[in-house]
Amino acid sequence: MKIYVCKTYEEMSKKAADVMGAQLILKPDSVLGLATGSSPLGLYSELADRCARGEITFKDVKTVNLDEYCGLSPDNDQSYSYFMHKNLFNKVDILPENVNLPDGTNADAAAETARYDALIASLGGVDMQLLGIGVDGHIGFNEPDDHFTTGTVRIALTESTIEANSRFFASSDEVPRYAYSMGCGTILNAGKILFIANGKNKAEIVEKAFFGPVTPQVPASLLQLIPDKVYAFVDAEAGELLVKNHPEDVIVL
Ligand code: GLP
Repeated sequence: MKIYVCKTYEEMSKKAADVMGAQLILKPDSVLGLATGSSPLGLYSELADRCARGEITFKDVKTVNLDEYCGLSPDNDQSYSYFMHKNLFNKVDILPENVNLPDGTNADAAAETARYDALIASLGGVDMQLLGIGVDGHIGFNEPDDHFTTGTVRIALTESTIEANSRFFASSDEVPRYAYSMGCGTILNAGKILFIANGKNKAEIVEKAFFGPVTPQVPASLLQLIPDKVYAFVDAEAGELLVKNHPEDVIVL
């Protein structure tokens, strides 16, 4: 696993954009797996700027997002569909028909999860998957559990995630209790993983994920099983314990 510790969030975002940009140059019709949350905002803004300058194009790119809240429609400003359009899709030259997310309005979980898995399979899988990490170690919305998920699932969000994500809502009561998420198996099958994390509150979980035991209690620890495919960029705050306790295993930029 290549772990790069950047000085700042801005540097982390630029390096991640270099890697995703290179992916689009090498394979213009890439299938990108995308993520939400605050971590990728800088990366998405960089990608939009580079697209506006003509350095990269999304015209042949297809995207599949990791997750979506159950019960929220795409026009709800808290939905991940809304987030993705606002922060990336509306700013680049991607074709609307090439954008894919789980459908949070589909109450039939069996049908929706099967649809999303079939869709990902029909695209030939994910070439590069972007991942952030929750403070409890979740990837996508795969929460700590006693087993790893394989394909797309409907997940009950943990109290810690509801609390963490309540900052985007008027109150924690408004945070949906369920979400659809791509499964860990699908994430592991991606051609490459671009992992990003920033901020002090991620330092402990990042160390656990990369150097603790591989366990479904820390879903991100699965990445240790595919070291050759993972490129991790963290800022100095999130990487603090890596630099302190695992200096041989990280590249400090
Ligand atoms: C959310 C998303 C994840 C994201 C994580 C971290 O719940 N489902 O895909 O990686 O939480 O979010 P943030 O980047 O805001 O810390």
